[in-house]
Amino acid sequence: MEKYLNVSIKEIIGKFPEVGRILEEYKIGCVPCTLGSCLLKDVVGIHNLPADQEAQLLYRIEKAIYPKRNVKRPEGKALTCKAPVGNIKYSPPIKRLVDEHIVIKQWLELIPSVLEEIDIESEAGMRWISDSLDFVRFYADKFHHAKEEDILFGYTDKNLDIIKTILRDHETARGHVKATSEAVKSKDKEAIVQHLSAYKDLLKEHIKKEDEILYPWIDRGLSTRQVGELFAKFDEAEARIDKGMIEQCEKFAHEAEEKVRKIKKRRQQNEW
Ligand SMILES: [Fe+2]
Ligand SMILES: [Fe+2]
Repeated sequence: MEKYLNVSIKEIIGKFPEVGRILEEYKIGCVPCTLGSCLLKDVVGIHNLPADQEAQLLYRIEKAIYPKRNVKRPEGKALTCKAPVGNIKYSPPIKRLVDEHIVIKQWLELIPSVLEEIDIESEAGMRWISDSLDFVRFYADKFHHAKEEDILFGYTDKNLDIIKTILRDHETARGHVKATSEAVKSKDKEAIVQHLSAYKDLLKEHIKKEDEILYPWIDRGLSTRQVGELFAKFDEAEARIDKGMIEQCEKFAHEAEEKVRKIKKRRQQNEW
């Protein structure tokens, strides 16, 4: 088993698909991850399961890899609850990033409803897309992702696979924004819908990964002094950013939430 703890999760799942199914039961999403280069020992460690659940998980993985081996079943209860973590408590600076995710998600929620009925020939339709691109470029990227990349990840090893995956998501997201912007110029509705939808799917998964796995893991490794330092660095970074723009973006996201409610209500009324 020792041997497999140092093997990439993709290779293990490729050889033993049952391992992927077991990880999914524990809400460890390695199967859909296209990179999959994290080592099994890191995948298990980073999720910080309670000791008895971690022992059960490793037992089941070992049985899946070596079905004929007489593996000793660990003491304690088997996994009964499929959700591994309860309410996550974040340190104050990390909580700020989680709150920014809430703002980004308000806007993400609106994308499918708007795209369903968007008229790119109308001024209002085009305005919503260009406002959205401004929101993404400024709030999601310049304000939020920049704090992660320039400050937070400095407290981790940037060569770790989980950080590489997160950084690659940021790059892919920037690619979709660029492609949407080009599609706006050429009035290519299909490409606008395709790239904004892909952006929404990517960011939703990305935020979940950060909220539930990456941030708690980084938080666990921070000393009290580092938490204070991180808070001060975020303050410094935010002081360099136009406050009026941040407020405008938050207002835009909040209005997006309102808009989703109105669209849903209107559709329900039409159905009646
Ligand atoms: Fe991120
Ligand atoms: Fe984030």
